[in-house]
Amino acid sequence: MKVAIIGQGYVGLTIAAFASKTHQVIGFDNNPENVTRLNKGISHIEGVESADLIASIKAGLYKATTKPSDLSDAEIVVIAVPTPLNSDRKPDLSFIESACKTIGLALKRQALIINESTSFPGTLRDHIKPLVEKYSEKKLEHLYAISPERVDPGRTDWNQKNTPRLFAGLTKEASDRTCEFYSTFCDNLVEVSSPEVAEAAKLFENTFRQVNIALVNEFAEIAHALGISVHETLNAANTKPYGFMKFNPSAGVGGHCIPVDPSYLAYMAAQKGVPATFIERANEVNLEMPKYIVERVLADNGGSLNGKKVQVVGVAYKPNVADVRETPAELVIAELEKQGAYVTWHDPVVGSWRGSDSSNLGGAEIAIVVTLHDVMDIALVAASAAYVFDTTGKLSGTKGL
Ligand SMILES: NC(=O)c1ccc[n+]([C@@H]2O[C@H](COP(=O)([O-])OP(=O)(O)OC[C@H]3O[C@@H](n4cnc5c(N)ncnc54)[C@H](O)[C@@H]3O)[C@@H](O)[C@H]2O)c1
Repeated sequence: MKVAIIGQGYVGLTIAAFASKTHQVIGFDNNPENVTRLNKGISHIEGVESADLIASIKAGLYKATTKPSDLSDAEIVVIAVPTPLNSDRKPDLSFIESACKTIGLALKRQALIINESTSFPGTLRDHIKPLVEKYSEKKLEHLYAISPERVDPGRTDWNQKNTPRLFAGLTKEASDRTCEFYSTFCDNLVEVSSPEVAEAAKLFENTFRQVNIALVNEFAEIAHALGISVHETLNAANTKPYGFMKFNPSAGVGGHCIPVDPSYLAYMAAQKGVPATFIERANEVNLEMPKYIVERVLADNGGSLNGKKVQVVGVAYKPNVADVRETPAELVIAELEKQGAYVTWHDPVVGSWRGSDSSNLGGAEIAIVVTLHDVMDIALVAASAAYVFDTTGKLSGTKGL
């Protein structure tokens, strides 16, 4: 099949890598640098190997493009563009809107249009379909479906092949064709009764994580006040073989999903006049963690960080990825700077960030470990400053959560 994938980021390129083993894939992205790099066979996404990309390019099964005309004869179009929050923390569908405009104007034949971008229930039916139709020059009866993405960048045990995939079409034909397409590279497809169920399930999955992370972060504060180890307590609770799932405390949540998706659900709840109190409180708790961490560091260091050299170790939002979107490290740095500290950061996976390069590990009086990548030497990190505060729970013999 000729498959066009709109957006070649974490989701779009991951799908492209799997789909291009059997289909002819056009990776459409409006970032020309991205497209040039991809056509040279250079992957910018963890989990997508450059060697695989090169093999697909050589086999004539993958091409990246910025040209909408390259989409004209696609049989399947997958939407994988960002769905962030605007400055009021409300859903920003502008990327979806622009993708729909591109699709509507470009397609010259009937196609199956599948949304993989995360959004609130009703996005496929009430936004994507009308928008594509609005921009279609001639009346083409496209098919529409949703299949929310579950990729966890950097993870190897669960991938496109073995992670169950939800899907639903606006019509039976759309559902059947969606199933046919994903069956070519995914072993376990789960059909639900409507696109709205699939959209809501995706949001609830990430809300479940957001709320439980906030709960364990709040518990970390309680455990510290009680003078007990949060990690020992969680490990003890985790010996219960049922009814408990362990989450670990941290500096907060980051990336494009956990800090964002629950607000899409809260937005929809508000539209329907239903309170989403857990989501709102979980947001607050997670966003307060950097301040709490800096207060703990302050208390351990004579009540002042003014003029002190502090190094933040690991600025990616999670281990083994270079993704710094919504990273809590940014808030930790802001809190430290508010206290007058002189802050450097070290992250060999991220490399460069906010216009500066990763500094060498060490050289500061205080280190705050936000993210530990596998390439980091735990013993060197633990010995990198006279005082080390570990938010990951992986270092022994240091202060921390
Ligand atoms: N990152 C994840 O782990 C993950 C997991 C599941 C779902 N999602 C969801 O998938 C969607 C995409 O997320 P992502 O992490 O891949 O984003 P990303 O920022 O990594 O990639 C998006 C890409 O789309 C391109 N783009 C933006 N607007 C475009 C347009 N109009 N036309 C063509 N290209 C355009 C950007 O240049 C970028 O390369 C979001 O809705 C996100 O919530 C992400």
